[in-house]
Amino acid sequence: MKKFYVTTAIDYVNAAPHIGHAYEKIAADVMARFHRAAGNDVFFLTGVDEHGSKVEKSAEAAGKTPIQFCDEMAAKFEHSWKNLNLTYDHFIRTTEERHEKVVQHLFSKLKAQGDIYKSTYIGLYCEGCEDFVREINLENGNCATHKKPPRELAEENYFFKLTKYKPAIKKWLEENPTVVQPDGRRKEVLNQVADEELGDFSVSRSRKSLSWGIPIPDDDDQVIYVWMDALTNYITGVGYLFDDEQFKRYWPADLHLIGKDITKFHSIYWIAFLMAAGIELPKQIFAHGFITVEGQKISKSLGNVIDPNSLVEMYGADAVRYYLMSGTTFEQDGDFSINDFRRKVNADLANSLGNLLNRTLTLIDKNAGGTIPDAKPEHDLREKANTLQVVINNHMHKLEFAKAIDAIFALVDQTNKYMNDEKPWALYKEGKDKEGHEVLYTSVEMLRRAAFHIYPFAPKLASDIWWQLGNDDEIGVPGDNDKHADGYFDMVPVGQKIRNSGPIFKRIEDPDAEKKPEPKKK
Ligand code: ME8
Ligand code: MG
Repeated sequence: MKKFYVTTAIDYVNAAPHIGHAYEKIAADVMARFHRAAGNDVFFLTGVDEHGSKVEKSAEAAGKTPIQFCDEMAAKFEHSWKNLNLTYDHFIRTTEERHEKVVQHLFSKLKAQGDIYKSTYIGLYCEGCEDFVREINLENGNCATHKKPPRELAEENYFFKLTKYKPAIKKWLEENPTVVQPDGRRKEVLNQVADEELGDFSVSRSRKSLSWGIPIPDDDDQVIYVWMDALTNYITGVGYLFDDEQFKRYWPADLHLIGKDITKFHSIYWIAFLMAAGIELPKQIFAHGFITVEGQKISKSLGNVIDPNSLVEMYGADAVRYYLMSGTTFEQDGDFSINDFRRKVNADLANSLGNLLNRTLTLIDKNAGGTIPDAKPEHDLREKANTLQVVINNHMHKLEFAKAIDAIFALVDQTNKYMNDEKPWALYKEGKDKEGHEVLYTSVEMLRRAAFHIYPFAPKLASDIWWQLGNDDEIGVPGDNDKHADGYFDMVPVGQKIRNSGPIFKRIEDPDAEKKPEPKKK
């Protein structure tokens, strides 16, 4: 049994989660479910980033103490993630006591060995980035990402000796071409490392400019700066300092899943901290693209923030998960459009997959007494399915979710075509039961495979298919008797009673359909 430890970025709690946050967490859940279904020992960590001036200000604006505010926001995030069926093993909060202890331990250790020292820094600070920014990277005096002017900040801070670790980071990036992905991001990080301006950086703030943070042992005037605090969650979450057995079992992380905007913090700062602390480095950092809404950046001021909970309430978690993962190449930016959402889930889940299941089971009820007929799957289609299984698994390992989904639907479409070509209903009419049974068995077998492959994306729908095919065990949980090579089981048992209990996915109707004028006839 292999272990698989996957993490997400931990979200700032200054605002409620939107579909961009959901996108990343769903992707991590997809990977967690995929690996669990393959029989691996999975740990999935997600959570929230609670310290920092942005959070402090939001709490104040809401008339709450920071911790009151954080408690409420953390609950909101957890509620959203439960709604989306996320199966994380721990939801970390950076206000957890053990986390604060780990951060303080790391800070003291690095300070004692001379990797953290005190100095004065004068620079331009962007609150959106929670980082100092450089003059040359500004656009009309504004931070290019946050479109706001940075403020000048002069402070005595503790600094981390990044310069000492830069050569080792460069070597690590060069010698391990898959540690930062996609490759374009790795190249970007290599350029940043090569940039001489990237020097030691501050890991604390004066209490005067930031009070909502983890205190520094032996120095009441300073608190630990958010990034050192936040990044450390990845080791706290699997028991560093507090549970050696768990830490040994899961660390190093197999996958740190993050958004493209925080690649530098993970691929440079985090790696440097780990090197300094003598902790093994993660296997991969994968930076995904951003989700826009109807072509526009998600922003409060544009008023286009979509609450994932309202989508789930209207359309179900499966549809939201499925659409977000199918819509785009994971490494590039992707768009959420409500019309495209309806079109895609209707076409794939209701029509292609839903109808295939429905017509197959209806024919089995009518012609095979409601049990899986005694036959073998047709040779060619089975071979194609075996090939597609390899293709799908390869895409999944590379986080190419949209391509994996395309391959799953290639299987579904081929099966629909096979049914149309073979016409089992006609075969039964001609008294060719044996041939009819073979077609239906083949379709059942392809449906079983499709359910298995689609399970990480649309778990409830997959488990409905599984159940309707007559299986009593839980999909995605390999049993003792299941043979699984990369998560693959044997065929549906002949004679098993099916449960033809209606559509697995109800078509989403277009609420504006009636209002639309009829297309003009020529
Ligand atoms: O950066 N599309 O928190 P955060 C896709 N606390 N992903 C998006 C997105 C969008 N429109 N908007 C944000 C932080 N994200 C830090 C992380 S990790 C040790 C600390 C992603 O709330 C973003 O890229 O600003 C990041 O990965 C995550 O959501 C949290 O962003
Ligand atoms: Mg952000």
